[in-house]
Amino acid sequence: MQPSPISDRRTPGSDRTVPPPGRPSASGRELREPPFDEPRVLAVVDGPDTADYTDAADYVAHTATLRGVVRQRLVTRALTGHLPPAPARLLDIGGGNGVQALEFARRGYNVTVCEPDSRMLAETRRGLADAPESVRRRVELVQGDGRDAVHLVGTGWDAIFCHGVIMFVPEPAPLLNVLVELTRPGGIISVVGKNGPALALRAGLQGRWRDTAALLGEPGSAGAVGPGRQPAVQPRPGDDPANVAAILTAAGTRSLAWYGIRTFTDHLGGIPPGPDVDAVIDAEWAAGARDPYRGIARLIHHVHRRTG
Ligand SMILES: C[S@@+](CC[C@H](N)C(=O)[O-])C[C@H]1O[C@@H](n2cnc3c(N)ncnc32)[C@H](O)[C@@H]1O
Repeated sequence: MQPSPISDRRTPGSDRTVPPPGRPSASGRELREPPFDEPRVLAVVDGPDTADYTDAADYVAHTATLRGVVRQRLVTRALTGHLPPAPARLLDIGGGNGVQALEFARRGYNVTVCEPDSRMLAETRRGLADAPESVRRRVELVQGDGRDAVHLVGTGWDAIFCHGVIMFVPEPAPLLNVLVELTRPGGIISVVGKNGPALALRAGLQGRWRDTAALLGEPGSAGAVGPGRQPAVQPRPGDDPANVAAILTAAGTRSLAWYGIRTFTDHLGGIPPGPDVDAVIDAEWAAGARDPYRGIARLIHHVHRRTG
């Protein structure tokens, strides 16, 4: 097997804000990387035993389920209506196992993935190893936190992706402001986050009634975690689509569109895609683009343009 021309590296150090000097990448761009601790644990939990994934291997497995496929294909489909033509420079913040990076590299785009978790980067590298060299040449990997990305990869990108990442930061504003700063004027910012106001739907459709009540914010409801009566689940600021859109707008963007992801399939657990997957995607796409269905989808996909 030919070695992948992608570039990434991991260097020890102690100062996150002043990255070590970079080196030229395969494509001549300087790559920088701050030090990192052990890879973090991913967890998206809304009740006992309901995590979509808890680490990189889990996320790879989730990506192959019907729910994972629906999510990725809807994101790709929405973006194709908004991105400038290839080749343009795309930056995927928290690119995970590289699904969108690979997809858009195959479509002729130059894609840089900025991802803090070395195991996720290893999964991306694995995916790239099977791709044609022309595709691999268009992808670069940088290990780093998205909030440090201006220092790591510079600004002026034609489009920034940040899909399924804001749920992992305590406050969404610092990350969302960085996304806008990274983008050239007129460029595209694509953010996928949880749909906080509709989080009870999955639990309800799965018949998890105590979790449903807690997620609906019923006072005194039995909580989602542990025995006994717990406080109702408080939605996080990053799970509020109106808040996410307002922060992006205040930072100098305007909304082009927003889409719901997984209106009909979110409660289906880990089932694999079946032979009807294309029909499922078409139905989800139609629902995700219109009211009232998109408002109850599990995830919201925001597409903004930087105005200034
Ligand atoms: C649910 S995965 C999503 C991966 C990919 N964007 C996708 O949509 O398939 C979340 C990713 O966000 C990354 N992540 C978490 N915190 C981050 C941060 N502060 N900056 C950048 N990425 C982060 C995780 O390492 C993980 O790869």
